[in-house]
Amino acid sequence: MNYDEKVNDYDRFAEKRHYNVTNGLMKSLRFVEKPMMLKMMPNIEGKRVLLLGCGTAEESELLKKFNPKSITGIDLSEKSIEVAKKAYPDLDFYVGDMHELPFDNNSFDFVYSSLVINYAKDKEVVFKEIRRVLDDDGEFLFSACHPMRFATQNCEVDGKRFHVIGFEAGSDGKVVLGNYMSHSKQINYFKDNQVLEEYIAPPSYFFQSLIHTDFLVENFNESQCIQECKDVDLEYYTRFHEIPQFMAFLAKKNR
Ligand SMILES: C[S@@+](CC[C@H](N)C(=O)[O-])C[C@H]1O[C@@H](n2cnc3c(N)ncnc32)[C@H](O)[C@@H]1O
Repeated sequence: MNYDEKVNDYDRFAEKRHYNVTNGLMKSLRFVEKPMMLKMMPNIEGKRVLLLGCGTAEESELLKKFNPKSITGIDLSEKSIEVAKKAYPDLDFYVGDMHELPFDNNSFDFVYSSLVINYAKDKEVVFKEIRRVLDDDGEFLFSACHPMRFATQNCEVDGKRFHVIGFEAGSDGKVVLGNYMSHSKQINYFKDNQVLEEYIAPPSYFFQSLIHTDFLVENFNESQCIQECKDVDLEYYTRFHEIPQFMAFLAKKNR
């Protein structure tokens, strides 16, 4: 397989991703991440919502059900925003970077962000931007990659591949696999040649970054694959019912 493609190239995958998500083909979103996020949704009725890193914006359909006043999406990928505009012409979309948002202070009541914050090396810069665009009492719900899945080390045991976090048993054991506690760059290679480079960190790192940037954490969750997945893919269910793939935080702007 050839992995010399550009990293974090969401332009190239925008149309395919839109097709896959709308047809329920992305198990990680359908059975793990979105159910976790929906469980943590605050009341957003009549509120101005920003989808940060919306990609092709399928998640806007989920949020519409909560009757917000407006939904605005922003993403770094031009092609993703082009697809989103075509699919959801009633919403506002912008191409832009989460580190420097093109919005006035206090423009939104709720910021929703699925699996985007991991692209930021300095998470506090992004949290400060989100705090700036949030109105007083505004809330911020986001998900991130869990280190139990994304800070593991690949290794082979009896010809089978494993993702491992752990250490060699015994008083003189020297081998440590994985880096749960580091805030570190991880490169993931996917079957379709998409290469993603993200900064993975443990929950404590996120809690500390939110506290430093004047947020109050209202809720926290680690993902668990939902029962419905059992009939579709038992192996996937078994794996991600026990091992958290993602985590999510609900935070409120501290005045
Ligand atoms: C895993 S996708 C998530 C898309 C969507 N939220 C979802 O759950 O289906 C990550 C998205 O983050 C966007 N992204 C990465 N870095 C970004 C940045 N600095 N500013 C804004 N968006 C960014 C990518 O273009 C991509 O669309």
